Amino acid sequence: MSFSPEVVPVGVEIKETEVSDEDFEEMKGFVRDYLAASVESEEDGGRMRWYPWHSSTYRFNHILNVVDLATEIAEAEGADVDVVRVAAVFHDVAKLEAEQDVHAEAGARVAREYLQSRGTYPDSFIEEVCGAVVDHSYTGDLDDVPLESRCLIEADVLDKVGANGAVLMLLRMGYESRTHMDAAKMVDRVLQRAQDHTDRVVSDRAQSIAYQRIKRVRWLREWLEEEVTRMEVGERDADR
Ligand SMILES: [Fe+2]
Repeated sequence: MSFSPEVVPVGVEIKETEVSDEDFEEMKGFVRDYLAASVESEEDGGRMRWYPWHSSTYRFNHILNVVDLATEIAEAEGADVDVVRVAAVFHDVAKLEAEQDVHAEAGARVAREYLQSRGTYPDSFIEEVCGAVVDHSYTGDLDDVPLESRCLIEADVLDKVGANGAVLMLLRMGYESRTHMDAAKMVDRVLQRAQDHTDRVVSDRAQSIAYQRIKRVRWLREWLEEEVTRMEVGERDADR
């Protein structure tokens, strides 16, 4: 007699909707290809594709970061982890093909079509996922949205706070023909924004991630202020 892999040990609760790791990997692959196809047909330079914010690789990487952060927050908050991680993987799928103010609704349409086409997910699950995808562009009080939407919004906000926010700002400096002398000032802007974003975050886990990230950005600003400024003084002295 052999045990089939489907045999579930007694006492283990079977969830109504289970998204297997294999299915989840397939969703990631779908979203990666969808983003790449969204920019393929556009003419070069149409939306500053060289700038990471508008590239499909940046967007997909952001999505993977949001999946990880949202899953961590959902587990800590007792939210439905499958709803949150599936919503996270689809939340920006339409970001590169739709206008910013409708990209959440457009993303929910793509998610609904994908999930319905599988034929294995109950309508209630699909509605919860699509609801969270639509909600992710909500800018109001996070106490007013379902827990799963809140986990996604907090994760989306956190990916802009910290290293990614700082690097994007420094890259933008090049586009604006700024020099390294402005780096501390620009990182200070990142810090201000990070603090504004973090004011919205309500869960303990998201708050502690934000706190740690803001601390690092503050170090970066102090480091730049100290060493870049010193270099400026050194250059002045050498000129005399
Ligand atoms: Fe996002």
